[in-house]
Amino acid sequence: MRVPFLSLQPQQELIREELEKGFKKVLDGSQYILGKEVKAFEQAYAEYSGTRHCIAVANGMDALTIALSVLGIGSGDEVIVPALTCAPTWMAVARTGATIVAADVDEKTFNVTVDTIAPLVSRKTKAIVPVNLYGRPADLERIVDFASSKNIFVVEDNAQGHGAAISGKKTGSVGHINATSFYPTKNLGALGDGGAITTNDYELNQKARSFRNYGSTARFQHEVIGINSRLDELQAAFLRVKLRHLDAWNEERRTLAHKIQRELIGVGDLFFPEDASSVYSVYHLLVATTQKRDSLRSFLQQQEIEMDIHYPLPPHLQKAFARRGYASGSFPVTEKICHQILSLPLWPGMGEENTNYMVDQVKRFFKK
Ligand SMILES: Cc1ncc(COP(=O)(O)O)c(C=O)c1O
Repeated sequence: MRVPFLSLQPQQELIREELEKGFKKVLDGSQYILGKEVKAFEQAYAEYSGTRHCIAVANGMDALTIALSVLGIGSGDEVIVPALTCAPTWMAVARTGATIVAADVDEKTFNVTVDTIAPLVSRKTKAIVPVNLYGRPADLERIVDFASSKNIFVVEDNAQGHGAAISGKKTGSVGHINATSFYPTKNLGALGDGGAITTNDYELNQKARSFRNYGSTARFQHEVIGINSRLDELQAAFLRVKLRHLDAWNEERRTLAHKIQRELIGVGDLFFPEDASSVYSVYHLLVATTQKRDSLRSFLQQQEIEMDIHYPLPPHLQKAFARRGYASGSFPVTEKICHQILSLPLWPGMGEENTNYMVDQVKRFFKK
């Protein structure tokens, strides 16, 4: 028996006909950029997220870059980001010219909190970018309250959190302006690259719309220097189909994740990050830590079970960010997590047989 880390096959089979219809509609419509499908997807995703506006863009990193740029953030400003995240969160800040200020994460939740952020705030701090990492909302309400009291913007990085919620509010709707990715492996994934910005602020919405399209809202009129970052019609058509299934797929992820956690909590030294009761996690990834991570990985490989690591090397230790000057040891919690973390296989359609086999093999490893 082989358990892949992720398979998109079961989802795709379920909606193959709907996707093909979407493809045909775009092909026959002969409008491939900023047409009806993008508009309809933007409306649907705004409604789903509980925000007034959604601006669809080419990918998640552009979404973050645009969100920060329309807040006026650039050189001389500081932006607080989690030390534990994937590189694009940091890269988007670097792209605006602002200075990255990293906050370590909480050892129980693996997310930034007001306690880890507060000591880093300076007169130059313009924004905080909490990441709803692994599909688990950060402590967003407290972070927004704290930031608002200091006149600092909050930009949620919701690339991993489609459908997650905190106190009944969807992630991607709590910050002043928020960014997400529709990279194919995300909970809501396109069949290529895609991303979006969500906000309740009309002016930020207008600015982001212009920024994604060469700084233009009227043909051949350019108010600012923007970029070309438009979601294309084809991806919008696919995303409209997949959005209709997102809640069911998230529920399936949750059921599987809860079952796996019930079975594995207390096995060996496995630790699963904790969620507050107000949190609805969507398990983009099912992560745990163990000091035996590398030997567990080799053992599972021998049993043909794939696991992955998110992330083996945090951004501050990547060559790309060497100039930022963070040394090894700068973020002890993040570094410890990166040494010990593993992501178990989890995807809609994974089914009982794969799940039970994986759980049994993990237990077998720790019994040895
Ligand atoms: C937390 C986070 N932020 C940003 C991104 C960037 O998204 P994209 O790959 O669409 O540029 C990703 C996805 O890779 C992500 O997981």
